[in-house]
Amino acid sequence: MRYIMAIDQGTSSSRCILYDREGKMVAAAQREFRQIFPQPGWVEHDPEEIWRTQAAVCREALRQANLQPADVAALGITNQRETVVVWDRRTGTPVYPAIVWQDRRTAEHCARLRAAGWEEKVQAKTGLLLDPYFSATKIRWILDHIDGALDKALQGELAFGTVDSWLVWKMTQGELHITDVSNASRTLLFDIDTLSWDLELLDLFGIPAAMLPGVKASSECYGLTRDPLLGAGIRIAAIVGDQQASLFGQLCVEPGMAKCTYGTGSFLVMNTGPEKIVSKHRLLTTVAWKIGDRVDYALEGSVFVGGAAIQWLRDGLHLFDAAADSEKLAVSVSDNGGVYFVPAFTGLGAPFWDPDARGAIFGLTRGVSAAHIARAALESIAFQVDDILAVLAEDCGRPVSQLRIDGGAAANRFLAQFQSDISALEVVRPAHLETTALGAAYLAGLAVGVWTLEELATQWRSDRFFQHSMPAEAVETHKKQWRKAVARVRAWAE
Ligand code: G3P
Repeated sequence: MRYIMAIDQGTSSSRCILYDREGKMVAAAQREFRQIFPQPGWVEHDPEEIWRTQAAVCREALRQANLQPADVAALGITNQRETVVVWDRRTGTPVYPAIVWQDRRTAEHCARLRAAGWEEKVQAKTGLLLDPYFSATKIRWILDHIDGALDKALQGELAFGTVDSWLVWKMTQGELHITDVSNASRTLLFDIDTLSWDLELLDLFGIPAAMLPGVKASSECYGLTRDPLLGAGIRIAAIVGDQQASLFGQLCVEPGMAKCTYGTGSFLVMNTGPEKIVSKHRLLTTVAWKIGDRVDYALEGSVFVGGAAIQWLRDGLHLFDAAADSEKLAVSVSDNGGVYFVPAFTGLGAPFWDPDARGAIFGLTRGVSAAHIARAALESIAFQVDDILAVLAEDCGRPVSQLRIDGGAAANRFLAQFQSDISALEVVRPAHLETTALGAAYLAGLAVGVWTLEELATQWRSDRFFQHSMPAEAVETHKKQWRKAVARVRAWAE
C-alpha cells in the first residue's frame, strides 16, 4: 500500500491524482462536467454527474498507474466549498441540483438579514458575512421551493452536505454522513470557536438540525470506501475544503504564511495558527484544518472573478485563442496605455462585498489595442489580490512579506511579477503547482502514518521567485487609478 489518492472535486472539473510516498505524482486524471445556468445569476451542478465523473477519474488514475484499490494506503478528499447538495437519505437521490457557491439567487434573503441587524452576530460566530456565497441561504431556498422538502427535512428524511459529504456518502454507499471542520466553517451554520453546529443560527436560517452531517477533523480515518465504481476498501483519511487544502499543500503551516490560488476566482488565505483573528475589514475568518486536537485558523479574502476575466476576453471578446496567449499579448506593449479593467461581473467580493457592482473598462482611447486590454485584465487580477493584502496587513498588524502562488494563472510570469511589484512582496511559485490535491494527499498520508509534518516540510520545493522592482511612484500611480476605477463601478450600482 504505497500510494495516496487525492480527489479534487472542483467547480469545473473532477480530478484524481495519485502520489507515491515521496509526494511525487504517479498518475492524474481529470473530467469536466456540465455547468448549468437556469437563470441569470444562478449556477447549478448535477450531483450525480459530480459523483460519476469523480469515480471515473479515480478508476482512470488507477488504470494509468497500473494499480488496484488495494495499493492505495489512503484517500484524501478536497472540494469546491459552500456548494449545497440535499438528498433523500432513503433513496440517496438529490431532491434538487447542487446550488453552486457562485449562485446569487439568495442575495435578497441575505440583504433582509443584514437589514435586520444580524451580520455582526453571524460574523462573531462563524467568521463569515451575510452573502449568498455561503451555504445556509441556499439550503433554505431548496427547503422553500421543493414540494414537501421542509417536512421531510424536519422528519430527518433529508440530508444536507457540501460536496465532500455527498462524495463520502456515495463512496460509502450511505454509511457515512460527515464533513470536516474546514467545510463546515463555510456554511454560516457553524460556530468556529466551539466547532459545532449553532442552534441559534439553524433557527435564524430555518434549517432543521436533523439534516446536518457529523463534523470531523480534517485528517483522520473516517471509514472505508464500499462503492464498486470507485473500488472498495480504501481508507478515507482526509476531508478539507479546496482553498484550505492548497494552503496546506503550499506548506503554509506557520502563522503569517500566505498563499494565493489564481483560478476562476482568486483566493488569498493566510494561516493565523491557533489564534482566530476577526477582521475589521470584511475578510473571512475560517477554519484552516484540524489535525488531532489542534485547530488552525486562517484569514481569507475571496475574489470572485480572477482568471475568469481572461476567459471572458478569450470566449466573449475572442481576443486570443488560449488563456496562455494573454501573457504574450500583454508583454507586447510596454504599459497598459492608461487602461484599467474592473472585472466585477458578479459584483465584488472581499473586501468590498458589493453584489451590485458591475464590470467596466476605463481609459479607452483610439490608441488602445487588444494588448492593452489583455494587460489591464491581468493587472486587475493582481490589483484585486493587492486590495486584500492591504487590509490583511491592517488586520494582522504586519505586512505579508512572501506570497506562495498556485492555480492555473500562476504559470503567467507577467502576472506573478506584477503581483510582486504592486504589492511589494516576494512571490514564490512552487515546483508542484497542483497544491490543492497535494494538500489533501498530505493530510490523508498524515492520518495513516505515511509521513510526518516534519518530513513534509522538507518536500516543498520552489520553482521560481519574483522580486519587486517597480519604482514607488509608478506603484502609487497604478494604485490611484485602480482605486478610482473601483469607486466608479461601485457608484454604478447606486
Ligand atoms: O469557495 C469556492 C472555492 O472553494 C472554489 O474553488 O477551485 O473549485 O473554483 P474552485
